[in-house]
Amino acid sequence: MLGRAESRPLKVNNLEVKIYKDKIEVAHEFSSYFADLVADKKEFHVALSGGSTPKLIFDVLASEYGTVIDWNNIHFYWGDERCVPPTDNQSNYKMTEEHLFSKINVPPGNIHRVLGENNPASEAMRYSNLLEINLNRVEGIPQFDLVILGMGDDGHTVSIFPHEIDLWESADHCVVATHPDSGQKRVSINGSVINTAKVVTFLVTGSGKSEKVDEIHNKKENYTQYPASLVNPKSGNLTWFMDEAAADALI
Ligand code: 6PG
Repeated sequence: MLGRAESRPLKVNNLEVKIYKDKIEVAHEFSSYFADLVADKKEFHVALSGGSTPKLIFDVLASEYGTVIDWNNIHFYWGDERCVPPTDNQSNYKMTEEHLFSKINVPPGNIHRVLGENNPASEAMRYSNLLEINLNRVEGIPQFDLVILGMGDDGHTVSIFPHEIDLWESADHCVVATHPDSGQKRVSINGSVINTAKVVTFLVTGSGKSEKVDEIHNKKENYTQYPASLVNPKSGNLTWFMDEAAADALI
């Protein structure tokens, strides 16, 4: 196991920012952070992010902590899922199965996937109900122990994109969103569920993210047009894990 990299802890506009040399260090340090977070929990509900950033992180989590963490205590959900079958290469569940679940002993009953093969609107409703049943609620909003987020080059997070930023305030815990380029439908949790979580972390790596990181963290003009800028958990517990490429405007 690599020695703990020295992060550059940074309080930027009340955000906790941990900046590491590269995405490999981000993967090792986030995996250690996750293992510490779940260490004493008998029941832990986490919403995973999708896309490509988690792949390396899940690989490291599985290899470094696969036999350390008691996965019986961990329940997995998704912050968003593409409306495709679980066998589709676009599926966030499929990606997680390949990079994490296939390598650890997690009870199948602990995996609560969004049924991407279902009708999007009915699945958003089903998943909203599932969250209400499985999670504690704070002022009626399901509360995750941890929500892991990514951020797109356009400043979206989960599957709430700038062109549909009104979905952030939806009264529904889960909404149907549309990818701005492909038109692909997605089921996504809304801003209230994200900001009710006990802990929220962003995993953002690569130079493609640096412009939006700069605009959001330095609160540049119109930065609130980006859904990622609206992540502000009531708990105050928000940490951005980034590599230097993504955070180059902050160092
Ligand atoms: C998804 C994600 C999405 C992702 C960002 C970043 O389903 O695509 O949940 O919010 O986190 O688009 O994606 P990359 O990690 O591929 O850059």
